[in-house]
Amino acid sequence: MVYRCIIEGYLCICVQRDSTLETAEMIEEQKTNIENLRLLCHPVTREPLVLADGALHAARSGDCFPVREGIPRLLPPGERPLRHRYWEWVYNRVAIGYDLGVEIGWRLPLGGAAIDRASYLEKIRPRPGERVLETAVGTAANILQLSDHAHYAGLDMAFNMLRRAAARLRQQDRQALLVQGDAHALPFVDAAFDVVFQMGAMQFISDPARALREMARVAKPGAAVWVIDETDALPRTLKRALRAAPPARPEWQAAFRRVLPPTSEQVRLEIISQGELYCLCFYAGKENGRL
Ligand SMILES: C[S@@+](CC[C@H](N)C(=O)[O-])C[C@H]1O[C@@H](n2cnc3c(N)ncnc32)[C@H](O)[C@@H]1O
Repeated sequence: MVYRCIIEGYLCICVQRDSTLETAEMIEEQKTNIENLRLLCHPVTREPLVLADGALHAARSGDCFPVREGIPRLLPPGERPLRHRYWEWVYNRVAIGYDLGVEIGWRLPLGGAAIDRASYLEKIRPRPGERVLETAVGTAANILQLSDHAHYAGLDMAFNMLRRAAARLRQQDRQALLVQGDAHALPFVDAAFDVVFQMGAMQFISDPARALREMARVAKPGAAVWVIDETDALPRTLKRALRAAPPARPEWQAAFRRVLPPTSEQVRLEIISQGELYCLCFYAGKENGRL
């Protein structure tokens, strides 16, 4: 897995160049996403937002969030932790080469088995008309492989990853509401989504319990929440919990339970892709508010 990361990173940086994807056409198309305004809220105070003069305004706090290239920039106001800013910087740099890097890195079984997106996407499978959120959406590689009969929203911290996502969605004539934000403070109203998932980002999350609570908050009552990531990149808090009980499945489940929202139901943890990925699924508690 270490070799895989090095190769992915190297490929990403090799093909990196300054991207100027901004076109009038793209801006026009993305503007339609703002029609989804009722799904959005202030990432911290959760107050409603009003679109005026190309920005989203929160009346009570007076905070104003710009919309760039049709993508609302809803990062929590104020100073953000260095770790978050670091990963945002990294992913802004590698965005242009990310897809090629992953494509090659995941196929080469260097230090582990090859990873296939189908191994987890076939579990998520949204039903027609459902509203689906991917937190840490990256370049929308997952959404593009899921059925186009559902309605998608994707959030990521790195703006350049979202630009790539917008370009890829446009190329394939697909729509999704793309939002810049932090997985620790989702700028979405409570109980807005039928399915919420995250792939490959838990390893960058400084507070997994908070991120999982946020995913559960924006899920409708009984909605499925999925978290998938590399098994050897488990967040430190989980690793600590697991130290006493190395990878025996029931103990893993118990460790995840400790960081999950207490209202989670039917918690399941599976190891997939020949041991390369873990796939956690739980259902949002029935008492989650309705949109
Ligand atoms: C390995 S990529 C995975 C992208 C995508 N989910 C995929 O499967 O290709 C990790 C993504 O997580 C994003 N990310 C990292 N920390 C984040 C945070 N706190 N909030 C939102 N996005 C974050 C990065 O910007 C990056 O796009």
